[in-house]
Amino acid sequence: MGTVVAQTSMPTPDRLAQPTLSASPSQADKGAQVYWLACLPCHGDRGQGLTEEFKQTYPEEDRNCWNSGCHGARPYENGFTLPPSIPPVIGSGTLQKFPNATILRSYIFATMPWWRPASLTQEESWQVTAFLLRENKLWNAQEDLTTSNADLILVGAPVATATPQPSAAALTVSPLPIIIGFIILVLVLLLLRMLRKK
Ligand code: HEC
Repeated sequence: MGTVVAQTSMPTPDRLAQPTLSASPSQADKGAQVYWLACLPCHGDRGQGLTEEFKQTYPEEDRNCWNSGCHGARPYENGFTLPPSIPPVIGSGTLQKFPNATILRSYIFATMPWWRPASLTQEESWQVTAFLLRENKLWNAQEDLTTSNADLILVGAPVATATPQPSAAALTVSPLPIIIGFIILVLVLLLLRMLRKK
């Protein structure tokens, strides 16, 4: 009975609360912390991107992100301009432009967080990449993500493997300009000859 009472009086989980770390956190667990600290305000508590619904978790005065003075065209000192939309990073159809985890990690390291690019340490960038991969079910996170295995973890749509005979197509097309060029050359030579005879 006591447990039932305890359960019903539990507060609803705070969506913006810091994730708890276990005694021996994995790389991806640490990545969840990095995400919470450096990415969540823009990419959402579930990686959904800056959606209208997510913005409702903000204090009322902060919900219009593109108000000039804050993140609009003329941000105040220490403010910064935000692009009009912030993409999701977790869920189906996300991260499509990154063929593999190496490229994703490099992108994150070089460009994120948006307002202060390249401010993560190398280690943090690996951790947060491992977290995103795990949340997207692309990586079981049993071992650490490193330079030696990241190439093998495919992220976005795989590059088309079957390229149907591009060389054959090029061959069937290419003779035409050559023939035309040859005809023009012959005509020019004929013309020159006629002119010389006159
Ligand atoms: C201040 C807001 C902001 C923060 C904080 C931020 N991002 Fe971003 N992020 C953006 C914006 C804006 C884009 C779109 C950039 C573009 O398209 O050029 C983006 C794009 C991305 C993309 C590419 C998504 C795609 O499919 O195009 C990834 C991955 C990403 N961010 C990861 C992160 C990670 C990881 C962090 C935390 C370390 C982070 N971001 C922090 C604003 C932010």
